[in-house]
Amino acid sequence: RGPEPRTPTGRRDGIPPEANGQGGEFLTTAQGLRVRDSDHSLKAGARGPVLLQDHHLREKITHFDHERIPERVVHARGAAAHGVFKGYGTASAVTRAAFLGKDVETPVFVRFSTVLGSRGSADTVRDTRGFATKFYTDEGVFDLVGNNIPVFFIQDAIKFPDVIHAGKPHPDREIPQAQSAHDTFWDFVSLHTEATHHTIWNMSDRGIPRSYRTMEGFGIHTFRLVDADGGTSLVKWHWKPRAGVHSLVWEEAQLINGMDPDFHRRDLADAIEAGAFPQWELGVQVFPDTPDQMFEGVDLLDPTKLVPEELAPVQPVGLMTLNANPLNYFAETEQVAFHPGHLVPGIDITDDPLLTGRLFSYLDTQISRLGGPNFAQLPINRTHAPVNDMLRDGMHQTAVHSGAAPYKPNSLDGGCPFFAGAAEGGYTEAPVAIPAAHKVREAPASFDDHFSHARRFWLSLTPAEREHVIAAYTFELSKVWEPAIRERNLGVLANIDPVLCQEVAAGLGLPAPGPSVPLAEVEPSPALSQLGGEWPVA
Ligand code: HEM
Repeated sequence: RGPEPRTPTGRRDGIPPEANGQGGEFLTTAQGLRVRDSDHSLKAGARGPVLLQDHHLREKITHFDHERIPERVVHARGAAAHGVFKGYGTASAVTRAAFLGKDVETPVFVRFSTVLGSRGSADTVRDTRGFATKFYTDEGVFDLVGNNIPVFFIQDAIKFPDVIHAGKPHPDREIPQAQSAHDTFWDFVSLHTEATHHTIWNMSDRGIPRSYRTMEGFGIHTFRLVDADGGTSLVKWHWKPRAGVHSLVWEEAQLINGMDPDFHRRDLADAIEAGAFPQWELGVQVFPDTPDQMFEGVDLLDPTKLVPEELAPVQPVGLMTLNANPLNYFAETEQVAFHPGHLVPGIDITDDPLLTGRLFSYLDTQISRLGGPNFAQLPINRTHAPVNDMLRDGMHQTAVHSGAAPYKPNSLDGGCPFFAGAAEGGYTEAPVAIPAAHKVREAPASFDDHFSHARRFWLSLTPAEREHVIAAYTFELSKVWEPAIRERNLGVLANIDPVLCQEVAAGLGLPAPGPSVPLAEVEPSPALSQLGGEWPVA
């Protein structure tokens, strides 16, 4: 064949540029985020080490590595829905993210999940729930990949394989699917006491939601917002369900698991089909971006800690309505790929060591789960912003790229995409000072407190909620086989509260140990109780 007919921009005629990932005039990431610089890695100082948080660097190299060509490892069971997010405009003072502007409407896709069970497991187990939202903004995809519990088990991503190995079914008999009767789970959380806060949330009613429609959602990590003038603030994201927060009781949860293991996915789909569209208000707690990144004694980089809403109220910034069910479970719910590093201008990350590890993990796992590096081309993952990247070939490539020179600059293809400055929507990392430091593995001393937040949660609960917590610990620990693990967990409870420890110990027929650290002096936070809390709903 003779030479291909070319358009002035070097593209083959007859194929829309968007279909080839070559739309728009700017170089972008696979998510449609405009790229400011594709020749230099993000570094700690011009001659310093390259930073793992440089998403464009990792995406570009990871994609190249896989150019010549299975169930989620966690959160395998899920249900999802389409919807729309409408900004209130109230966030404009703290972020230039366009989708948060007044009355801006952005399509969204939300996937709810359990964490530990396999794809065919039951819905109403005691577990944390995933709450992942994909915003298809005009500036590229923004993913808010959160949970229904505002804190996490661990402080550093390097422990994630360990906590999941401890929580997944035992390797010999592949049981159980939930947290119940797990020697390994209770072994882990009593040996890694940073898990204490998350575990007490799990043992509370939050571990068995009534419906996906009645769960709160949390971004957990602290994120950094950047305003139109480059000013920064630190925030924590919150989803507040318009339907309120409601849970099952344990007996209901067990019966439903037997009678209708699809209870939560059925409930979500039925409600949407009936026109009872679930809604959540998105809100932020805003903190000053101080050099120490602390607020009222809370280390904002520690994902096992939260800031009580009484100290930093949640300020509503928009409303999400889920109004359509997926047409095809596999194409949409199963193939959707979220990533906490999918950001848009105005939203940046912090140095939370759990978040940094996630930035690596999701892209990496999705390459094997979705069969290569081209899953951003799948319809459910495709950004609604123009894509003009220089990623090529690889397994499951669906674009038919034209041109001879997928590099920039080049003098062959009759022009190539431009870089975008900040005014044109180019993503610019917040200019955060990185103090001179030595390489260390140790966590900061501010990560050492493992009990005070769990104690505040306990003290914030109503009497009925406390009874449920006592019953849950007693049930779960009664199924633990190893006596030493049961006793070690009672030691953890003693550091939360003597009454909690004594009640659970009495239920197990064991003596109650005393605390090994002084009990923290903390004020209750009524907003932590799903029966006692209130929040602003615009
Ligand atoms: C999946 C939340 C920490 C690795 C998920 C999902 C959610 C989630 C909601 C399911 C996404 C979906 O519906 O497709 C969180 C939260 C975390 C956290 C809120 C802490 C604040 C971590 C860490 C790692 C990790 C520390 C690893 C270092 C993964 C992996 C998947 C996943 C590998 C499967 C992704 C896929 O196959 O698409 N997580 N996670 N997560 N998470 Fe996390």
